[in-house]
Amino acid sequence: MTKILKATKDNLIKAKELLLNGELVGFPTETVYGLGADGTNKKAVSEIYKVKGRPSDNPLIAHVHKDYDLTKLVKNIRPYALDLIKAYTPGPLTLVFESKGVVVDEATCGLNTLAIRIPLKKEAQELLKLVDIPIVAPSANLSKHVSPVTAEHVYKDFEGKIPLIIDGGKCEGGIESTVLDVTGEVPEILRAGLITKEMIEKVVGVCKVAKHKEGEKAKSPGVMYTHYRPKTNTALFTKEEIQKSIELYEEYIKQGKTPYFMCDEDAKKDLVGKNILYLGKTAEDIASNLYYKLREGEEKADIIIAIEPAYNGGVYEGVLNRLRRACK
Ligand code: TXA
Ligand code: MG
Repeated sequence: MTKILKATKDNLIKAKELLLNGELVGFPTETVYGLGADGTNKKAVSEIYKVKGRPSDNPLIAHVHKDYDLTKLVKNIRPYALDLIKAYTPGPLTLVFESKGVVVDEATCGLNTLAIRIPLKKEAQELLKLVDIPIVAPSANLSKHVSPVTAEHVYKDFEGKIPLIIDGGKCEGGIESTVLDVTGEVPEILRAGLITKEMIEKVVGVCKVAKHKEGEKAKSPGVMYTHYRPKTNTALFTKEEIQKSIELYEEYIKQGKTPYFMCDEDAKKDLVGKNILYLGKTAEDIASNLYYKLREGEEKADIIIAIEPAYNGGVYEGVLNRLRRACK
């Protein structure tokens, strides 16, 4: 039986007891829901890979509370990394350091690095403070599926497979944290997210972005896998191709099926009277709604016809990357 419980003190203590007992617990963060396990418990960590169906070479992020002493887990922390910690944590920034090996190999997949995240969401901070150990947590979705932004989304993927989901409402950020390698002289973005290149440059001065070439091993293995796929048909068009997208929509209507457009404010103006999964106007709105709307679409649409949002800076890169992979 999988319970969904509100994040009261008593329920967070229940979550703590389960985690310390080697069980898995779903919990909210400001980005997406995580599927947590004790990062020092080999069996618990292996269980994450099992229930998610996650490839065994895709490492996990260790989550800690804001007062946790990071030097217990990692070494050779560079001064610029400390500046980033000060500027953007707690928050949606994951930093990759040299590991001390406290978090087990099962979680780091044998790499000598460890990714650390200090989430902002109050409920996550409270839980992490209570347990006071590193909690490794991937996004709480079955491997390849759309990431979860509500407790119900987690329930849909893991009903009967985990004992508890802590409900903290809808995640505000809506897409995963930025993964940043801080082991080198210059920081390097491995996964785009809510903390942008510009925001990092503001603090450090420079920031590289990892490019993944086909057939080459990625520094952040997760970015190589099929991901974010809804369980319904999808199609992706640019704004210039809107006429073609309308033809596809009409074809579905003719067949008695239920197509939905997924689009921003800009494209919406050309789609009056049609079924729409509306993403919003700013890049931040769109990030916040993206997974929620993909999950809604898979419930009610025979096809999601997505129109790429117009460039509007901010977290646009992170949004577009995920939308393209969802509609692959
Ligand atoms: O916002 C988030 O980051 C969410 C919430 C739950 O915190 N978590 C999340 O975890 O997105 P997951 O497992 O879905 O994605 C983790 C990403 C993967 O792309 C993985 O390859 C990368 O982080 N990663 C983890 N450890 C790494 C390491 N040591 N070096 C490079 N990349 C790493
Ligand atoms: Mg994920």
